Parts: sequence; structure tokens; C-alpha cells
Amino acid sequence: MSWLEPFRDSVVLVTGASSGIGRATALAFAHAGANVAVAARRKELLEELAAEAARDVLVLPTDVTRRDGVAGCIDAVHERFGRIDVVVNNAGVLIPGRLDQIAASDLDAMLRVNLFGQLFVMQEALRVMGPRGDGVIVNVASLAGRRGVPPLGGYCATKFAVVGLTEALRVELHGSGITVSLIMPGVVDTPMIRKGASGQGELAPGLLTMPPQWVTWAVIAAIAMGSLEVDVPPGAAIAEKVAALFPGLTDAAMAWGTEMLKWFGPKPA
Ligand SMILES: NC(=O)c1ccc[n+]([C@@H]2O[C@H](COP(=O)([O-])OP(=O)(O)OC[C@H]3O[C@@H](n4cnc5c(N)ncnc54)[C@H](OP(=O)(O)O)[C@@H]3O)[C@@H](O)[C@H]2O)c1
Repeated sequence: MSWLEPFRDSVVLVTGASSGIGRATALAFAHAGANVAVAARRKELLEELAAEAARDVLVLPTDVTRRDGVAGCIDAVHERFGRIDVVVNNAGVLIPGRLDQIAASDLDAMLRVNLFGQLFVMQEALRVMGPRGDGVIVNVASLAGRRGVPPLGGYCATKFAVVGLTEALRVELHGSGITVSLIMPGVVDTPMIRKGASGQGELAPGLLTMPPQWVTWAVIAAIAMGSLEVDVPPGAAIAEKVAALFPGLTDAAMAWGTEMLKWFGPKPA
């Protein structure tokens, strides 16, 4: 029996499915025989994904920053399939910027998607999952949600917020039959990182990245094993916890790493 067999005929909604991690995850569930719904703003990319999937995929153009839009998306999945088993709460944006320069509007834009968008998806999913007392919400956060890193202070703040929301919600839902898992990826090779790294679609030389499928497998493992938190790559949690014990040393190591990236990374045109 395949690892993915348990997902056959389950109902899975993936947000942020038009690109990167969400796209790879939606395709994996579709190939596993799940009933997949995909949400994001760029409808044409969702339709391309649906065409690539081996089975019918429900395309739901959605802006997660709009509460009514998220409610409509959840209702559409529920109406079509009669239930929702899994929500992969993945839509996110990254706008890099040093904290002494970051525009409030950039932080606001990230908070709207990464914090409020993920909150709206959780709340609307619970509206449907609650009465059944069954379901899994998988929140894609980031290792940047456990340790601040430059020039991503604003982004880190949004991901710390999602981690806090998720941990509190887990306790609220204790014994309810609904589980909420956190996925904490490191650097993954997606358009987000390519745009954020250089603004030119290129990765900085020396930047170690993972393919989006690693995160897909973490999502699947979290659901299959009921894991509350999965770091990508595995073991990053240990490094994170050791680093938290030595904040000064960690700051110095990261400052040194940032300097090295300036030396070897892409130069401004
Ligand atoms: N790549 C990494 O290194 C990395 C590391 C850790 C965590 N993550 C997290 O992983 C998740 C996926 O990121 P990715 O790397 O796959 O980035 P990506 O390729 O840029 O994809 C981001 C997805 O989010 C969607 N999205 C953005 N704003 C939205 C909105 N207002 N409403 C609905 N959908 C919206 C985008 O779709 P539309 O533009 O079509 O709406 C797109 O499908 C994010 O939460 C990100 O923070 C990424």
C-alpha cells in the first residue's frame, strides 16, 4: 500500500496553490486520489495546475485577506464535497527589508496575508470542521517564526505571530477531534525566495535551498502521523533550540553569515 493511500477520496483544500510549496502540495494530494480544492488570487495559474493534475480539481480564486472571500471558499468546498478533511493553510508573502528602513505599508501587506489571512482560513475552516469534530489544519509557518533573521525582520514577525496563534489554538481544540499542525520550513526554492533573494529571480550563490516537495512531504507526514510540528529539514528544531540558549553567540554568527552573503551574493545593478 502506498504511503499516500490514506488520502484517497479525502477532501483537501490548499491555499496559496498557484505557486511554489502550495502548488507542489496540491499536486501531490491530487496524485494520491484526494478531492482537491485550490485557492489563490491568480486564477489562470490555478487552472494550469488543475489541468496538470490527474483528476478534477476545484479552482477557487480567493484573496485570503478578505474574510468574506475566505468564507465563500470554505463554503464552496463544503458544498461540493460535503466535508473538509484537511486544510493546508499556506498562502504567504515575503517583502524583505532592514528594520531601520522597512515601510509600514510593507509590514502591513505581510500581516494581512501571513497573519490575518491564515487566521481567517483557520476560523472559517473551524466553522465547518467544528460540528463534525474532525479535521486537520496544517499551518505553513517558517523557521523564521522561531528566530529573527535579517533582512526579514518584518516577515519573521508575521511568522512568529502565526506560531503563537497556532499554539494557542491547539490548546483550545484539545480533545475536540480537530488537530492543528505547524510546518516550519527553512529556505525552499520557490518564486518567493527567488524574488526576495535578488529581485531578479536568481538565487544568491551559496544559499542552500530545498525543493518544495520536501515541504509537501512534511505536510503529509504531519497529517499521517498526527505531528504537531514538523521542521524542514528535520532536526532544525534542535539547532533552533540550542541557538535560543545562546542568543548573543547566535546573533554574532548570523551577522557574520549576513556579511558573507553580501560578499558572495548578487551585487546591486
Ligand atoms: N520559500 C521559502 O523558503 C519558505 C520558507 C518558509 C516558509 N515559507 C512559507 O511557505 C508558504 C508558501 O510560500 P512559497 O515559498 O511557496 O511562495 P510562493 O511561491 O511565492 O507562493 C505564495 C502563494 O501564496 C499565494 N498568496 C499570496 N498572497 C495571497 C492572497 N492575498 N490571497 C491568496 N493567496 C495568496 C500566492 O498566490 P497568488 O499570488 O496567486 O494569490 C502563491 O500561491 C508561505 O506561507 C511562506 O511564507 C516559504
